[in-house]
Amino acid sequence: MQKNVLDINTIRNFLQTPLEIGDLIIKNRMALAPLAGTSEVIFRSICSEYGVGLTTTELVSARGICYDPELKRNYQYLAIDPDNENTVAIQLFGHDPADFKRATEIILQHPILQQVSMLDINMGCPMKKVVKTGAGSALMKSPDSAQRIVEAVVNVADQYKKPVSVKIRSGWDQDSINAPEFAKLMEDVGAKLITVHARTRNQMYSGQADWNVIKHVVKQVSIPVYGNGDLTDIDSIFRMYQQTNCSGFAIGRAAQGNPWVFAEILNPNFELKNQEWLEVIDRHVSDMIEKLSNEETAISKMRAQLSAYLKGKRNASKARHQIMQCTTKSQLLEILHSI
Ligand SMILES: Cc1cc2nc3c(=O)[nH]c(=O)nc-3n(C[C@H](O)[C@H](O)[C@H](O)COP(=O)(O)O)c2cc1C
Repeated sequence: MQKNVLDINTIRNFLQTPLEIGDLIIKNRMALAPLAGTSEVIFRSICSEYGVGLTTTELVSARGICYDPELKRNYQYLAIDPDNENTVAIQLFGHDPADFKRATEIILQHPILQQVSMLDINMGCPMKKVVKTGAGSALMKSPDSAQRIVEAVVNVADQYKKPVSVKIRSGWDQDSINAPEFAKLMEDVGAKLITVHARTRNQMYSGQADWNVIKHVVKQVSIPVYGNGDLTDIDSIFRMYQQTNCSGFAIGRAAQGNPWVFAEILNPNFELKNQEWLEVIDRHVSDMIEKLSNEETAISKMRAQLSAYLKGKRNASKARHQIMQCTTKSQLLEILHSI
């Protein structure tokens, strides 16, 4: 028992160790995995306040950025807040190296976005509409194309001294697990960090992540590897660290409606009080209303996230039902106060 307590303390100390990637210093080993619809700038800033070292935007189409060079449509997805976020990466998806080159130039020439810490390339998205274009996890079946894409981004990003990372899966399916060799190929063309979601494309988000794949990736490359898949708390991080020896830990679904998960992991004394729960949701909604300049739209866009904030609460299903009907912040807060 005593040994276990010591080991948890050791992993907590490790989690607090900064990670250096060239000139970039990531303040600790915890990351928020990119989550379309959740990991926008306000939520990421809240996660940063609760200690997460590295966050990433949701996937944004490289070609979409090329068609929208002034970023009128895409800025909302690319937005970063360098004053309130720790280290933040922008994630691009696509299949054409020329799109990635141009999109990276547009981002790194933008007055605010050029403050981004890192560019991340999505090679894990399993959605049909993405993989049928040869993007996302389909790139794991085309290592040559994947290398050309990383080269294209690295060539531009190097000029701005920004590292490039790649997020991959275990492979396309159970018969083609290639993450270790694939990660090495990404390192060979200049990737400086790899995140491995230890599921195959065919698993989508179901079944258990196979952390052994992360272990093999760690052995194959000399750049830092972040493990991802089924992490929820300090115990799961402890087990992943023991099993894989990875350099960092990316949490996805367990952070939805739960930005405190990072504080709970990093600080054994952290305890969330109901008042703080209310204040954070209030702030999240208020900032979203300000961002979108429309109360009803903001609340409607946030319904899934609001529902996630209710996870584990008494009367959650009744409150979720009420939230589906509400259109103003004051109605929402009344519901939350009644829980
Ligand atoms: C709703 C949702 C949206 C996601 N969006 C992205 C994304 O934009 N980019 C990406 O690389 N991965 C995305 N992912 C995958 C997560 O980053 C992560 O790899 C996956 O959820 C496994 O981690 P977890 O078990 O901690 O959730 C998404 C996952 C979910 C559930």
